[in-house]
Amino acid sequence: MKIIHAKDYADMSRKAANIISAQVILKPDCILGLATGSTPIGAYQQLIKWYEKGDVDFAQVSTYNLDEYRGLLHDDPQSYHFFMRDNFFNHINIDLSRTHVPDGSTTDAAAACAEYDRMVAAAGYPDLQLLGIGNNGHIGFNEPDDHFSAGTHCVDLTESTIEANSRLFDNIDDVPRQAYTMGVQTIMYARMIVIAASGEKKAQAVRDMCFGPVTPSCPASILQLHTNCVVVADEAALSLCPEA
Ligand code: PGA
Repeated sequence: MKIIHAKDYADMSRKAANIISAQVILKPDCILGLATGSTPIGAYQQLIKWYEKGDVDFAQVSTYNLDEYRGLLHDDPQSYHFFMRDNFFNHINIDLSRTHVPDGSTTDAAAACAEYDRMVAAAGYPDLQLLGIGNNGHIGFNEPDDHFSAGTHCVDLTESTIEANSRLFDNIDDVPRQAYTMGVQTIMYARMIVIAASGEKKAQAVRDMCFGPVTPSCPASILQLHTNCVVVADEAALSLCPEA
């Protein structure tokens, strides 16, 4: 793993955006694996600014998002479909038909997950996968477990994830209890992984990911085995990693 030190959230966002932008410039028809959550918003905002200046062109880019809540319609403001359009896609020149998010509106979990796996495999997997990391070390919605998951599947969210995500809902009871997520194996097929982390709350997860044993009890630790994984983390997120 290559660890890139950022000063703070804004610096982390710019550095992550720089790497994504370089990918799009090098391969205009690349496939990006994208993530939701608070972490990537600053990188998306930076990419939008560079798009507006004419520095980066998304016309031929395809995207596959990691996850989606089960049972939410695409236009539900809490859905990740909505998040991606609101925070990124509606502000750049991407062809929306090339953007993909697991279909949370299909409550037939087996069908929704199989179809997503088929699409990601047919596309040839992401050239670059952007990830955030959960406070508990999750990637996508792959929660700590006794095994690493394979393809897209339906998961029961842990209490800590429901609690962490409740800040975006009116009420904790409104947070969906299940989600569809790309599996760990699928994430590992990406040719490059950029995992971003900011803030003290992520410090233990970042330490476990980078310097702990490779174990499904910290799903992000598997990234130690990826051949091209870059961690972009700010000072607070790296505060428990003096060796980094
Ligand atoms: P966050 O979530 O970016 O909102 O902190 C990251 C994650 O849960 O993967």
